[in-house]
Amino acid sequence: MKSVASAPGKVILFGEHFVVHGVKAILCTIDKRITATSQLLDERKIRIKSRLGNAELNLDMSSNLDSISPKFMRPFLHIAKETLREFNENRGVEIILESDIPAGIGLGSSSAACVATTASVAGLFGRKSKEDILKRAIESERIIFEDVSGADSSVSVFGGLITYSKDGIEKIDSKNDLSLIIANSNQIHSTREVVLKVKEFKNKNEKLFAEMCEQENAIIKNVLSAIKEDNLTSLGFLMSKNQEMLEKINVSTDRLDLLIREASKTSYGAKITGAGGGGCIISLVDESNAATTLENLRKISDCFISKIDFEGLSYSQ
Ligand code: PMV
Repeated sequence: MKSVASAPGKVILFGEHFVVHGVKAILCTIDKRITATSQLLDERKIRIKSRLGNAELNLDMSSNLDSISPKFMRPFLHIAKETLREFNENRGVEIILESDIPAGIGLGSSSAACVATTASVAGLFGRKSKEDILKRAIESERIIFEDVSGADSSVSVFGGLITYSKDGIEKIDSKNDLSLIIANSNQIHSTREVVLKVKEFKNKNEKLFAEMCEQENAIIKNVLSAIKEDNLTSLGFLMSKNQEMLEKINVSTDRLDLLIREASKTSYGAKITGAGGGGCIISLVDESNAATTLENLRKISDCFISKIDFEGLSYSQ
C-alpha cells in the first residue's frame, strides 16, 4: 500500500522582520505543493528520494541523523524513524518527494516537505490529527533550523491565511480568493544575515524603530479589516505602505525595487515577501490586471501567478 500526502508552500503577505520585534505577520498558502509518497519495505532500510534538491539516501535503521548528508534530508529521516518507532513497525520505509515549489527563495518548501512527509508516513498506519502532524513537522524542521517559528508549517497544514506573532498562530477566517504574482529576483539571500542587519538598524535607531513598529501594527490592523471587506484596492495600498517600511530598514535591493516598480504600474500593490536582500516579491492582482502584470514582469524575471490554497494538507489515497 502507498500513502500519498501533499502540502502547499507559502508567502508572507505582511509584517516580515517587524514580527521578529513583536508585531504580527500575515501569511498565506500558495497553490504550489510538495507531494510525499511512502510505502513499507520488507527490508529494514529507510530510502528517501527527493526531487526537491535532487538527493537520494538508502540507510540502515540505525543511521545517525548527524552523519546524514545533504543536511536538508535529516528531517525526513527523523520523521521516518520516529513514526516507525511510534507504531512498533519493524519493516523499513521508502519515501519519494516531488515538488512544484521553487526551493530556497522563501516560499516555504522545507516546511511543506516536512508536513507532507509526516502525513504520508503516518498515513501508512491510519491518519493522525492535523495538530499531531504539525507538531512532528515542526520538531523535524528544528533539526536543521533551530529557531524556526512554526508559522510556515502551520499555514501549510491548515491552508488559507494566518497571523503569527511571538504569542502564537491564529487562523484568519477568510475565503478571499486573492491572486498574487510571485516574481523571483534570482538574488541569493541569507535570512539570518538580513535579520541581523535589521537588528543593527534597530540598535542604532531605537526611537525610530519603535515608531516604525507602531506604524507596522497599524498597517496589520488595517489589513485585517481590508481582508474582511475583500477590498483589493485597500490591500494593495497597504502592501505598498509595508514595502516603504521594508525599504526604510534597508532590506530591499535595486533588483527588488525594479521588480516592485514594474509590478506597481499595473497591479493593486507590490512588496518584498520574506527576508529581502534578494528572494521574491509579491504583487496583488485580479482578472482585470493579472495578464498585463504577468506579461511585464516576465520580461525581466521568473514569475508565476498563484491563488491562495484553502485546502492545506491533503491526502490522495
Ligand atoms: O524568507 P522567509 O520566508 O524565511 O521569511 C523570513 C521572515 C523574517 O521575518 C525576516 C524572519 C522571521 O524569522 O520571521
